[in-house]
Amino acid sequence: MKALKYILASAVCMLVSTACSGSKKNEANVNEPVQEEAQTNAVTTDGKTLVVFFSHAGDNYSVGDIKVGNTKIVADYISELTGADQFEIKTNKYDGMAYKPLCDLAKKEQANGELPAFEGGIDIDAYETIFIGGPVWWGTYPQVMFTFFSKYDLNGKTLIPFTTHEGSGLGNCVKDVKKAYPKANVTGEFSMYGHDVRSGKATVEKWLKGLGYGK
Ligand SMILES: Cc1cc2nc3c(=O)[nH]c(=O)nc-3n(C[C@H](O)[C@H](O)[C@H](O)COP(=O)(O)O)c2cc1C
Repeated sequence: MKALKYILASAVCMLVSTACSGSKKNEANVNEPVQEEAQTNAVTTDGKTLVVFFSHAGDNYSVGDIKVGNTKIVADYISELTGADQFEIKTNKYDGMAYKPLCDLAKKEQANGELPAFEGGIDIDAYETIFIGGPVWWGTYPQVMFTFFSKYDLNGKTLIPFTTHEGSGLGNCVKDVKKAYPKANVTGEFSMYGHDVRSGKATVEKWLKGLGYGK
């Protein structure tokens, strides 16, 4: 199963890469094989909860030029349905970039292990359960999220990774969160196609109910 997922993720990266390289853009449903992934392991829902996320508004694959990023829409559903606070990992580094140059830049950042700066900060000690969300960029979270991981110690907390994507599902995100925080309880992960989020509130709600929220 893991091998199959890896092959699918790689295939998607190639599709995204083909789109990035300016060849004929693939239609959204070419990525059909990866279904929504949701773990329904119940979590303790009574501590203070935070959603930490990064999301890129602007020109993107499949959805075009969007005013609100796909992952932000999911983060907003989570806050609305659970009462969780939010910390948005924000950088102006990618503002106004077209999709292809952004793909090239993100690939370079990942290859070089760059850690782009983000704005502001958060009192993380106040939170016991943290949803961690972002788009999949080249198979895992964008590098700016790794900047966040390098600055905040989330060991000992319950961490719930989620992604939006166009075929990679969770990609390597869960593995990378576990690697960043080996002593955290990483559980309950969820992924959703970016082009589905605007009509996908019920799907998010079902996932959250499976975790024990809103019962
Ligand atoms: C730089 C870049 C790289 C991407 N790489 C992948 C990828 O490897 N796999 C995938 O399924 N989707 C990939 N995508 C698509 C995004 O994951 C998807 O559109 C996501 O929903 C965007 O979320 P956002 O609007 O919150 O940023 C990529 C998009 C960009 C801009």
